[in-house]
Amino acid sequence: MNNSFIKALRKEPVPATPIWVMRQAGRYLPEYRALRGKHTFLEMVYTPEIAAEVTLQPLKRMDFDAAIIFSDILVIPQAMGMKLDFHEGRGPVFDQPVRDFAQLKNLTNIEETDMLDPVLSAISLVKNELAGKVPLIGFAGAPWTLAAYMIEGSGSKNFRWAKAALYEHPEAMHALLDKLTANVTRFLLNQIQAGAQAVQLFDSWAGQLSPDQFNEFSLPYLKAIAQAVKATGTPLILFARGAAHSLDQLADTGAAALGIDWQTDMAEAVKVNKNRCALQGNLDPIALYAPRETLKAEIRKVLNKAQGLDGHVFNLGHGILPDTPIESVQVLVDCVHEFSTRGEIELPVVEAGSPS
Ligand code: CP3
Repeated sequence: MNNSFIKALRKEPVPATPIWVMRQAGRYLPEYRALRGKHTFLEMVYTPEIAAEVTLQPLKRMDFDAAIIFSDILVIPQAMGMKLDFHEGRGPVFDQPVRDFAQLKNLTNIEETDMLDPVLSAISLVKNELAGKVPLIGFAGAPWTLAAYMIEGSGSKNFRWAKAALYEHPEAMHALLDKLTANVTRFLLNQIQAGAQAVQLFDSWAGQLSPDQFNEFSLPYLKAIAQAVKATGTPLILFARGAAHSLDQLADTGAAALGIDWQTDMAEAVKVNKNRCALQGNLDPIALYAPRETLKAEIRKVLNKAQGLDGHVFNLGHGILPDTPIESVQVLVDCVHEFSTRGEIELPVVEAGSPS
């Protein structure tokens, strides 16, 4: 029984800093690629036995302190009636993106379909197999990030369509965000009921919004979701990537923890947060390509910057890349545990003027 992850989210003392990695179930693992060779991505997501197996793959190799259910943020818009395809090499694509806001009335609510049942079944399967070994994380995309995907149809460099909609059709956008908020909340509560012991909300494209736009089109919805989850007693991790400008407001949403991206200085985040939330992060995913000693120094830096924080969950500052060397992930997990073990923190030489 390893409950360090949940304890850290609750800002309780832990024997060593817990760690998991965003996208830990995925392509950097040869066993994932082998399974993926036999199935499409969406088949894997919607077959509970496969999704459960993929969720557990990283835990068989590494001493991660949490599992995250293998799924995708786009299952919600798909369950609401958007046709989702997976284009090899390009990722998930909505072939008919929302460009005419009159289309939105055709979107249904997730209660009206059983499309998401396989994700909930996968959660129950993983929960059984884990038998309490480590906690299981459920997740969903945040309303703005989902809306942006639905309007663009795929990832985008400048989010021309989704952002233009904020200027051209602010009321329709608020209606869409409201509808997404209801569905995201419902799905997170369903995942908790199915056995998820924590949930993460991914606002991966928060950084595409100006601070004012973030305050108007994302923050209120994040807060509504965080409040609904808080009422269940299950901790929520809020990862609003590129929204460090609003850390102070994010700390008051009711989230148990804030995900910190790698562009943000962890020491600065600790300072702004004032121990309102636990913090998760924030090693640069590219540090995993560095020579071993450099990687270790970077890990120490993050741990040191997080000293004085009640509740640190180590993670990358964004998802792990598909060609990351597995040996580096092994070093990462082992070093985080070793370096943070009480009484054994090896302090690096601190340069004059640095904030640790
Ligand atoms: O963290 C985990 O291990 C859990 C699983 C997970 C996936 N996607 C699996 C996946 C999670 C939490 C996500 C979230 C997700 N999905 C986000 C937000 C996270 C972030 O990066 O900030 C977004 C924007 C998506 C949408 C999405 N799914 C894109 C843009 C892509 C294609 C790009 C890419 O990385 O390939 C996906 C596909 C996807 N989702 C894969 C995996 C393992 C790769 C699929 C494959 O095998 O080809």
